[in-house]
Amino acid sequence: MSTVIVVTNQKGGVGKTTTCASLAGIFRSRDKSVLAIDMDPQGNLSFSLGADDDGFTIHDALNAKCTIEEAIKTTDMCDVITSNIVLSGSELEMTAVRREFVLKDMLKTVKAKYDFIIIDTPPALSVLTINAYTAADELIIPMTPEILSLQGLTQLKETIIAVKKYYNKKLWIRGILLTKCPSGKQLLAAEVEEMVRLVAKQFDTEVLPIKITNSVAAAEAPAHQETLNIYSPGCRAAKDYLTLTKLLYPDIF
Ligand SMILES: Nc1ncnc2c1ncn2[C@@H]1O[C@H](COP(=O)(O)OP(=O)(O)O)[C@@H](O)[C@H]1O
Ligand SMILES: [Mg+2]
Repeated sequence: MSTVIVVTNQKGGVGKTTTCASLAGIFRSRDKSVLAIDMDPQGNLSFSLGADDDGFTIHDALNAKCTIEEAIKTTDMCDVITSNIVLSGSELEMTAVRREFVLKDMLKTVKAKYDFIIIDTPPALSVLTINAYTAADELIIPMTPEILSLQGLTQLKETIIAVKKYYNKKLWIRGILLTKCPSGKQLLAAEVEEMVRLVAKQFDTEVLPIKITNSVAAAEAPAHQETLNIYSPGCRAAKDYLTLTKLLYPDIF
């Protein structure tokens, strides 16, 4: 049975897609089967993993225009369900009863096939994010260590709490993952450290003890359609993601 990991934050540019792709690459390097699902209409994860944007997408699957199996594409890296801009109409299109459970129900038929299902989410709180949280076993919340990126997360917190209450009691918030952190021994400003701790407390979770360093290679890898562990295994961010994966998923090492 697979573990469904959702990477989320309603803010853009905090490293959600990079985290999804990095985890996918590391799981594959451990010979684990991976399905990556791109729930962001911008389609960045689809592109990063080298998936074609033709054929069926997550939008088709969510709207019963195809089966989930038909929407799965195989790339050099892993299986991927892609997305594109059409997905941005979902709020108006997904109106059925149990609209929050569409993704979860759909995944039942493929869950046995994969060790990990990784879901990337859009920088918004929408029916798509709620579907992802409802289908998830675990949430990882990336944040950048800047005061402005740590503010205005009340709505995200309330959405997660509501999903836990109404749709997914077992949802496990693994923690807040600090990304794009200064390299070397440079410390974060004390106010930032304190604020991250407070945010984590509000989310009833912890700040993960592994931070992801800012690395040029992390920004370059998507252009090569390679995951970080393949594009630049020696860079700091790649090493950080590996250490993080060992911490969160020790059983696969
Ligand atoms: N550790 C990192 N070091 C340097 N650049 C990074 C790092 N993580 C992400 N980036 C870059 O920052 C930008 C935003 O990251 P991305 O993963 O797309 O965020 P999100 O999915 O939350 O919008 C991208 O250009 C990405 O390549
Ligand atoms: Mg993204």
